[in-house]
Amino acid sequence: MHQTINKKLIPLEKQPAIMNKRDFIRKLSLATLASPLYASVLTSCLEEVANVPANDLASNDDFWQKVRSDYKLKPDYINLESGYYNIIPTPTLNSMVEHAKMVNYEGSYYMRTVQWDNKKRMAQKLAKVLGCTSKNVIITRNTTESLDMVIKGYPWKEGDEAVFANQDYGAMKVMFEQVSRRYGVVTKTVSVPNHPKSDEEIVELYANAITPNTRLLMVCHMINITGHILPIKKICQMAHNKGVQVMVDGAHCVGHFEYNIEELECDYYGSSLHKWLAVPLGTGMLYVKDEHIDTLWPIFAEHDREPGDISRLNHTGTHPVHHDLSIESAIDYYNMLGSARKEARLRYLQEYWSSKVRNHPNIVVNTPVESHRSCGIANVGIKSMKPADLAKSLMDDYKIFTVAIDYANVQGCRISPNVFTTIAELDVFVNALKEMAA
Ligand SMILES: Cc1ncc(COP(=O)(O)O)c(C=O)c1O
Repeated sequence: MHQTINKKLIPLEKQPAIMNKRDFIRKLSLATLASPLYASVLTSCLEEVANVPANDLASNDDFWQKVRSDYKLKPDYINLESGYYNIIPTPTLNSMVEHAKMVNYEGSYYMRTVQWDNKKRMAQKLAKVLGCTSKNVIITRNTTESLDMVIKGYPWKEGDEAVFANQDYGAMKVMFEQVSRRYGVVTKTVSVPNHPKSDEEIVELYANAITPNTRLLMVCHMINITGHILPIKKICQMAHNKGVQVMVDGAHCVGHFEYNIEELECDYYGSSLHKWLAVPLGTGMLYVKDEHIDTLWPIFAEHDREPGDISRLNHTGTHPVHHDLSIESAIDYYNMLGSARKEARLRYLQEYWSSKVRNHPNIVVNTPVESHRSCGIANVGIKSMKPADLAKSLMDDYKIFTVAIDYANVQGCRISPNVFTTIAELDVFVNALKEMAA
């Protein structure tokens, strides 16, 4: 049986029978906000490591084994595919179940009273993780919804141009094709090298695709197929000097490594919280700079709002509100583990396996070697094997689950371990690669 650390939900029957409505709503709101972060194995061992620098703790497998015990993992295979969806730790999962029970208990009353206030509070909590103010953040369902709202909702005129990369995510590229057909927008693509010589090489690449007609540039903070982290701030500064807005695809970045959205200087930023922040499925975020809040067309029309009120972009219809509430639980878990510790461990794991195969004559690592250009995700191929065959053989012969990537200058499997991945699992993976490459 798990214990709640924080305040428990107040069952309705325990509330005074006669209560004025305002009081009742306030109490309900507080009750639903008390994130019941369930007891974690971590709570008992964090004190011991409180003074250990994150980079030193990164290689301490004993500590990370304890983190692993906060997860229920399928024993059938080694999961090196956390990039699509992060399995959530048991304390967050338990919180989500409690939130679902509470919403089901309150029913329409919850939906008609505090659901929107609570969602706003989740955005406030998230804004602290993102390093921005909550007036610029909305909770969406995922990166696709966030970024497609910007691409589709930008006030395009015929002949306007947009720039993005071959390595960008398919759903966004397809949305650019749609606005191209619909509004006569011209799209230009660049191809990001897997091993750039410098930040300037990448900035130059995007700069060369910009013309006087360019309005919007899309760029990945971390390219999902390789794990390559791009120099976003420099790209934004270059684009702004040319009068171009920048929309950042940060699907893989929130909860993965530390940064501050405002310092990136971008105009829009979208992410999926069910990836590295480990919030239950169907949670995302969109950041919009003040000056663009009133110019975007929302996906779903909202009633009139005051100028600058970002909620005009956040009409969703009825949706699983208990997942929104779980954002708080996931952030509590993330903060408890520590963002610096998590980033350091994820980078350590990636560098642990990739450094063992980078110089192999038949193995190609498609991710930059410099630490600041990657974190937990990397991509690896074997020269004589198609990526699909590599992924199949890893699963069939070695019980290692990955995903094959075969486009945009990237041939290999994406490898995305998680905080629960052990060094022993990565050793199995490295041996598998070497055997296949021999
Ligand atoms: C770079 C990138 N952008 C966008 C997405 C879309 O994310 P979602 O399906 O959560 O909307 C993904 C998904 O993997 C991605 O990797």
